[in-house]
Order: sequence, then C-alpha cells, then structure tokens
Amino acid sequence: MTTQRARGPRYVVQGGTVLRGAVRISGAKNAALAQMCASLLTGEDVVLTNVPAISDVDTLGELLTSIGASIERSPNGRLRLNARGVNVFDAPTELITENRASFQIMGPLLTRHGFASSSPPGGDVIGQRPIDVHLGGFQAMGAKVSRQGERFVAEAPGGPGSLHGARVFMDYPSVSGTQNVMMAATLARGHSTIVNAATEPEVQELCHLLNAMGARISGIGSQMLEIEGVPELHGAEIAVMPDRIEAGTFAIAAVMTGGDLELQAAPVAVMDALLAKLRATGATIEACEGGLRVARHGAIHATSFQALPYPGLATDLHAPMAALLTQATGVSIIHERVFDNRMLYVGELRKMGAEIVSTGSSAIVSGPTQLHGAHVRALDVRAGAAVLLAALVAQGQTVIDEVYHLDRGYEHLDDKLRALGVQIERA
Ligand code: EPU
Repeated sequence: MTTQRARGPRYVVQGGTVLRGAVRISGAKNAALAQMCASLLTGEDVVLTNVPAISDVDTLGELLTSIGASIERSPNGRLRLNARGVNVFDAPTELITENRASFQIMGPLLTRHGFASSSPPGGDVIGQRPIDVHLGGFQAMGAKVSRQGERFVAEAPGGPGSLHGARVFMDYPSVSGTQNVMMAATLARGHSTIVNAATEPEVQELCHLLNAMGARISGIGSQMLEIEGVPELHGAEIAVMPDRIEAGTFAIAAVMTGGDLELQAAPVAVMDALLAKLRATGATIEACEGGLRVARHGAIHATSFQALPYPGLATDLHAPMAALLTQATGVSIIHERVFDNRMLYVGELRKMGAEIVSTGSSAIVSGPTQLHGAHVRALDVRAGAAVLLAALVAQGQTVIDEVYHLDRGYEHLDDKLRALGVQIERA
C-alpha cells in the first residue's frame, strides 16, 4: 500500500502568486472523526452535517462499516450513521492503523457492548503517541485491559452497560484520550470526573453532540469534565464545526504571500493564539461577517512561539507557522511542547533553501530567505501544509510528493488554492 501511495498523486506548484479572494473553511477533521465514533453509542441515527470530504473520514467510515454500522453519505457533506447492526468488536487491524482517531471506537464499544479490541492506532509519525491515558480511564471505570499479541483488549466483567463511574486523572490532557474515556463514561453507572481533561474545541464539540444524544456532561471547555452516566443514548443531529487548522493554514498563506483573504466561516472565537502571533508578524486581521479577513502589506517580523495544548497555539499549526517565519526578518524560536517528533518538515524546508535548524523539540528559523522550488515530500498532514506554503513563495516550481497526507486533512485543497490564483496541479 505504501509503495502504491508513494507513486500516488503529487502537487506541482508554481511559486509567486499573491493570494487574494475568499475561501470557505470546511468542517473540522478532528471534530468530525470523534463525532463519527460517538455514533457507536446508540442504535439510533446520528446525523452529521458539514463533514469534510477528506480521506480520514473515508477510512474511519470504512472501519465503522466493517464492524456492522451503516453509513449514508450525501454529496453536500451530510453523513447519517447508524450503529444498530454493530456485531464485530475486534477492530480490523488494517483499518485501525489508517489513522489515529480510529482508536476512539474503543470507549463506545466497551461501554455499550462490554468488549472491544484493537491494535494500536496509526496516524502521523509525529511522536511516540502512547494510549496509556485511554486505557487507564477504562480501567478506572472497571474494565479489564490486557494485551493479546499486538492487540489491546478491554472487557467490562459485568457485560454490556456494566462500567461504573470513576474519578479519572489524565497524566496528560490527551485529546483523543479525553474523548474516548468521556464516551465510555456517558453510559457508565454513576458519576465520572475527568481531571486534567483536554479542552480543545473539538473535545467541546463532542460534548455538545453527546449531550444532544442524551448524555449529561458538564464542565465543557474546562479541565474538569463531570459526566453523569445514563442507561442509554439516542440519535441526534449536529453540524461539524469549521476547521480551525485549515482556517489557520489559509490565514498563514495570506500573510506569507502578502495577500488579502476572506476566510468564510473561520471559527474566530477559537483562534486567539494564532491570530495574536500573526498580528505580531505584521498581519492585519479583522473579523468580517461570518468569518475573518487576513492581509499583510509591510514586512514580516520574526516571532517566537510555543506549540501547546488549547488555548495555546495548536501543534498542528507549528509547521505551517515555521514556513511563514522563513520569510520573516530576524530569528524566530519555536518550542514544540505537545509531540516529541514534529520536526520532520525541517529537512524538507531546508531543501527549499530555508535557514532552519532543529534541536530536538525546538527549531530556530532565520530569515528572510528567498526559497526556491525543489522536489519535496509531504511527510505528514501538517508537514505537507508547510512545504505547500513554502512553495507559494518559492522561486520556480516545487514538486510535492505523497500528497495523500494532505488529502487526509484538507478538503479540496488544490481547488481552493487554484480559485485564489495559485498555479497548482495535481499530477
Ligand atoms: N499522550 C500520552 N498518553 C496518551 C495519549 C497521549 O502521553 O495516552 C501524549 C502524546 O504522547 C502527545 C500528547 O499527549 O505528546 C498529545 O497527544 P493527544 O493524545 O492529545 O493527541 P491525539 O489525540 O493523538 C489529536 C489530534 C491531532 C492533534 C492532537 C493535539 C485527532 C484525531 N488528532 O491527536 O491532530 O495534533 O490531538 O491537539 O484528533 C492532525 O490533525 O494533524 C493531528 C495530528
């Protein structure tokens, strides 16, 4: 599969376009994926609208179908999921390893059916990405967790619906860990408290869907989530929130190219950290009706930042921001505080002439540098975004291989860029 993919589509980008116009921000990848998993908590229909057309949604859909769920997808981003027919509780390894979100089927299956087993999930190679927080939460609620070969097996000794509420302390405020444990707690007997919960907007959106399904979750958006277990959940419909990372990527593109973009539907209220940093680089940012307008007229100023859990600057915007800082005057220092291997993009940007060095979890960028077209790879979804951004300002043509990584998280990326004037071909 890897070889086939390595030969798969590539982008050929001609640098030098100033981005102008309007772009509509799509539904959020990480919100949609978690909400798809939540559909396993009920036999009734869960309907999601504004679901992005990205390959991570496709592969998670395949996984859900393979365990017996039914999914109906309309071309306008509407997804109807029904888990009445779920009858497989051992997730197929080849589908689980396609992405990271897939492990979030464990909590719902365990709490509703009393059993779930899975190989470790896949996803970007951006660090060790353990799952101890997920498993520790299940154990606290009474599950027996064991390792059988490479698979993790979680069992509720009392059978379906027999997990009990618990006070769960998360060693790290893991996003998918919080979501997995919270989903398990919705159908547990009694009260659960998740201490040191992740507060990311996508976690909050999952809480809203679960409450619409009849769950009783409070403390939403705080690091202490309170969950009163209920005997069953019912169907619900929710619109997936717009993607703050996609919006951030286009905002960076506007600043980088000295352009002027209207980001329609951008979730401004959850983008403070990025917008503060972009302003520090010299961008002009204003809220406009239903979104955000981002422009840059003068020079780009060097700016240092740390990638942090929410409400800090998202680790998913670390690499795109680093691409921007190659165009800034002066030295910028970046500290990655979430993942231990998020520096894969550094080597690719260097191939394009960037003066950037990484020292473990930090990177130092000196600028401005005139980047030049090169043959590079999208090594993960956000590293891919970084080289694509660099290609926009590079002299000449950049060829980006392995754009299947970008397809995982960005809806119609080349079409959107083309509509803003970029010469980009998918070959
Ligand atoms: N961690 C633990 N123990 C665990 C789980 C995580 O120590 O059991 C640590 C990890 O090692 C890492 C940190 O916690 O250092 C953050 O990991 P987290 O679990 O929060 O990340 P995730 O749930 O695997 C989600 C997003 C990522 C995003 C991170 C952080 C999904 C499907 N993925 O991953 O998105 O970077 O949260 O915000 O929701 C992306 O979209 O490109 C992407 C990688």
